[in-house]
Amino acid sequence: MSHSTVQTTPFSDQKPGTSGLRKKVTVFQQPHYLANFVQSIFNSLDGFQGKTLVVGGDGRFYNQEATQIILKMAAANGFGCVLVGQNGLLSTPAASAVIRKYSAFGGIILSASHNPAGPDGDFGIKYNIGNGGPAPEKITDAIFEQTKKLDTYLITDSDDVDLSKIGSSQIGNMQIEVIDPVTDYAQLMESLFDFNAIQTLIKGGFRLSFDAMHAITGPYAKTIIEQRLGAPEGSVCNAEPLSDFGGGHPDPNLTYAHELVETLYGDNAPDFGAASDGDGDRNMVLGRRFFITPSDSLAILAANATLAPGYKEGLAGIARSMPTSAAVDRVAEKLGIDCYETPTGWKFFGNLMDADKVTLCGEESFGTGSSHIREKDGLWAVLFWLNIIAKRQLSVEEIALDHWATYGRNFYSRHDYEGVDSVSAAALMAHIKNNFASIKGEIFGNYQVSDCDDFSYTDPIDQSISTNQGIRILFSDGSRIVFRLSGTGTEGATIRIYLESYEKDPSKHTLDAQEGLAELIQIANQLSEIEKRTGRSEPTVIT
Ligand code: G1P
Ligand code: ZN
Repeated sequence: MSHSTVQTTPFSDQKPGTSGLRKKVTVFQQPHYLANFVQSIFNSLDGFQGKTLVVGGDGRFYNQEATQIILKMAAANGFGCVLVGQNGLLSTPAASAVIRKYSAFGGIILSASHNPAGPDGDFGIKYNIGNGGPAPEKITDAIFEQTKKLDTYLITDSDDVDLSKIGSSQIGNMQIEVIDPVTDYAQLMESLFDFNAIQTLIKGGFRLSFDAMHAITGPYAKTIIEQRLGAPEGSVCNAEPLSDFGGGHPDPNLTYAHELVETLYGDNAPDFGAASDGDGDRNMVLGRRFFITPSDSLAILAANATLAPGYKEGLAGIARSMPTSAAVDRVAEKLGIDCYETPTGWKFFGNLMDADKVTLCGEESFGTGSSHIREKDGLWAVLFWLNIIAKRQLSVEEIALDHWATYGRNFYSRHDYEGVDSVSAAALMAHIKNNFASIKGEIFGNYQVSDCDDFSYTDPIDQSISTNQGIRILFSDGSRIVFRLSGTGTEGATIRIYLESYEKDPSKHTLDAQEGLAELIQIANQLSEIEKRTGRSEPTVIT
């Protein structure tokens, strides 16, 4: 098979963010833009000749075209085989599972997660390494260095591959296996959870609603929840993946998954509700008129983990991202296991899992997962909850109240200010940092600042250091305010304010989080001068 060496010039904006390279579709459609990045990935890797690459994406607009380019470039660069999901589809957790199951060299995942899709929406690409997890910073930095000096890329002069049919084909010497995107993942789930117990629960009349938000988890949830676990047809809604996600914003939170929220808070509500995001790695769990924060979800899964067959031997340890609430720390303490605090982004959990230091990981941003793969996993979290409910025979609300009664409640909320002017956002962060010295020790109402810093992390396994990971204002009673700028947005800047306080008294556990945090919210707004600096009187999204 002949291939071409295409002359190109570098793009200056190809620095991977929290989760790969994310840009507007129109940016990716520029001639050579995607190919440059793909070649930069390959150039930063060693030893992949003849090896296997996994390719798949969340089905958003440009997924198919991008997949064809990547296949031709993989062939021209000397990969031996590509495993690609049918129609170019693989959820992010399924891609991680496939990389691990078939001991692939690595994988390329096409996704911009929950960001809106379509011709005017976002597209994204990221590289995952052989453990199935996102490339660590060492590799993403190397990719970025390549993008700055790239002058040629390799691509075969071949026809497009038919991705609609499962089976094998070739581009030159490279084999292509089009695989069913669901099968391997579904098998893995069945090995971790008590499907019989969940089936019995559902047969007994337990009703659930899963919102796939017109994104990738539709086919996964249909197969697992409806076909294997026996939930009635229609339990999975918005199940057809659409290239523009139906014009929606598939981010499973109280704002964007409002349809599901209305169902769960409405008349004749089902017992359980859940949603996943564009690429299937996030999750939201609801009970009847009851919302579980992702931080509490992590803590509750940890406390009940041994009820699931895959975790019956217990947990090696737990990790959470820094802004995630410390609810899980209390569970880890009781279990006598280590709890690690990492920077934001799933890539920081990989080393800990590879070294068997942790089994469960979680982020406040609706991400939970375990060492079964190296990505967060939306459907996995949903099945874990169903397994726990089936075993404990309690409602979601009863499980949460019981948890808080045992451990106390960490009130928690995140306020996002999206699409803020980048210069103002940077100035706001600098303003808080400049005031560190004067804030320390100061008393604001019921709270006294005990410390403040810009979080940095030394990886305990490879000793790599990550700095500027979020500004923390720590109070003497353990409450916290954290300020961070998003690393995944594509328009302007997004300021995230994370708020947390601890309440031991069960009589106060049923308070609304915004009420429980009212004073801290006011302090955060005051310290950051958010309204004055951004012109915004309210967050865009509250979770
Ligand atoms: C956001 C979340 C973070 C998550 C990432 C990818 O990143 O906050 O926890 O890992 O998306 O899903 P951010 O935009 O805050 O950089
Ligand atoms: Zn996602």
